[in-house]
Amino acid sequence: MLFKKKHIIDWIAILDLGSPYSQLIAKRVRELNIYAKILPYNFSFKEFENNKPKGIILTGSSSSTIDNKTIFSEQKLLSLNIPILGIDYGMHLLVKMLGGKVIPSEKIEFKNININILQKEKDSLFNKVPVRIKARADKKYIIKENAPSFIVTAIDEDNTAVALQDERKKIYGVLFHPEDANTDYGKVILYNFTHLICQCSPEWTEEFFIEDSVYDIREEVRDGNVVAGVSGGIDSLVASLLTFRAIREQLYCIFINTGLMRKEEEKEIINIFKYFNMNLAIYDYTEKFIKSLSGIIDPEEKRRVIGNLFVNIFEEKAKHIGKTTHLLQGTLYSDVIESSIDLGPAAKIKSHHNVAGLPEKMNLKLLEPLRFLFKDEVRRIGKSLGLPEEIIWRQPFPGPGLAIRIAGEVTGEKLSILREADDIIRKEIEKQGWNRKLWQYFGILLPVKSVGVTDGLRTYENTLVLRMVSSEDGMTADWGKIPHSLLKILSNRITKEVHGINRVLYDISSKPPATIEWE
Ligand code: XMP
Repeated sequence: MLFKKKHIIDWIAILDLGSPYSQLIAKRVRELNIYAKILPYNFSFKEFENNKPKGIILTGSSSSTIDNKTIFSEQKLLSLNIPILGIDYGMHLLVKMLGGKVIPSEKIEFKNININILQKEKDSLFNKVPVRIKARADKKYIIKENAPSFIVTAIDEDNTAVALQDERKKIYGVLFHPEDANTDYGKVILYNFTHLICQCSPEWTEEFFIEDSVYDIREEVRDGNVVAGVSGGIDSLVASLLTFRAIREQLYCIFINTGLMRKEEEKEIINIFKYFNMNLAIYDYTEKFIKSLSGIIDPEEKRRVIGNLFVNIFEEKAKHIGKTTHLLQGTLYSDVIESSIDLGPAAKIKSHHNVAGLPEKMNLKLLEPLRFLFKDEVRRIGKSLGLPEEIIWRQPFPGPGLAIRIAGEVTGEKLSILREADDIIRKEIEKQGWNRKLWQYFGILLPVKSVGVTDGLRTYENTLVLRMVSSEDGMTADWGKIPHSLLKILSNRITKEVHGINRVLYDISSKPPATIEWE
């Protein structure tokens, strides 16, 4: 990755002690135009040899363990004389490192707390933060004995120390999560740490990312060829554009029509590729995919079958291209986190097609230039690469396509019913401008038939669920509060125009506990 290569810029090291929040913290730091790189708790200090970070954030959560013996050398960390911010368990570890005592608490809670800031100097962590704020905090440990040099700078309503500082050594701890959207002034606190305390120059921009990725891709691929599976989604498109910039004709983009795509998807993709003057090979494997999915009901099995077939086809195509060394994927961090790859404590939620759905043994190396980014970051990079607005704002579409939006067995007939309904949903939502307010808007076809009546005649047909969600990054989501008038139009049009659907439902579940897709 970065720094072995071309650029040297100010950066923040995030030492991950087993926190599901590390990537979100990294994202928040990047939003402040400072590069943040996550290092595992067992990292080597050699990482810092050529380019020391300007600051370190220690992140942990209730799933971290205080007795972890494999943790890096604490003394060495302190002797670097780099400002440190410990978050949550990171704060407790700092107490321990500075000579205090920490013990597990009886009850573990992740809740909203009211904070009273006791001390705030200019140019310090609470610069321009009001005296009272609300925050999200996790109380797995309690401080039995504070470290001598650690001054309590904020407490909560239970009188628990929720912020500590050793101003001289520039070491800070917060029990709460500044990266959490529910924490007031979280962004300001992170700004204060990175800009004021660490004095980072804000050099991390989309252009920087592009330039750097292009450099990295060239270094990684050298004279090999890369095969890319494009789906028309922004992720695979941005990944392809970046790679095209880096290696031009060494990139072979392939569009596999799985038969699980939306209406007119193929046509749209061809147009995008024409716009960028990039070559695209198109293959139709509709029958093969539908046949392979026959009789499969289990969602994970569906994903596995689709993933395997996809990669087999790629490998076959790659053989014909010759000298192919890499498979390009538009994997984002949210795919990685939910498939629980690289992520010790975060449990697997579902195997996202372009990550964990891949077979264990693959002949091609994976090239995933967007692996550490979130969707909104990818959109900004897409914009910098010159993608038109309507493409940048396309809603995410999952790799396994409509197959995971048909609950139960996938058949050709069900696919065409869903495709027609999806087309109506997309057009109506876009017509009324809701596409920019919603993260996703689509339909789920249920394996449930019900009785209805059309033109005085009894019908016994399928049920469609409308799923609309608002979200920032797909990790959490709220159900979309679209107007009743729009719901009415959708329901009327779908039941009238789509042969095979006589009932439309609206999904009012948020994520968590539901997920966005049904499977
Ligand atoms: P869930 O259903 O896990 O979805 O809440 C979160 C986001 O990820 C998308 N998604 C996928 N994207 N391959 C993808 O590329 C997949 O297998 C996959 N499954 C879900 C989903 O559409 C939502 O935006």
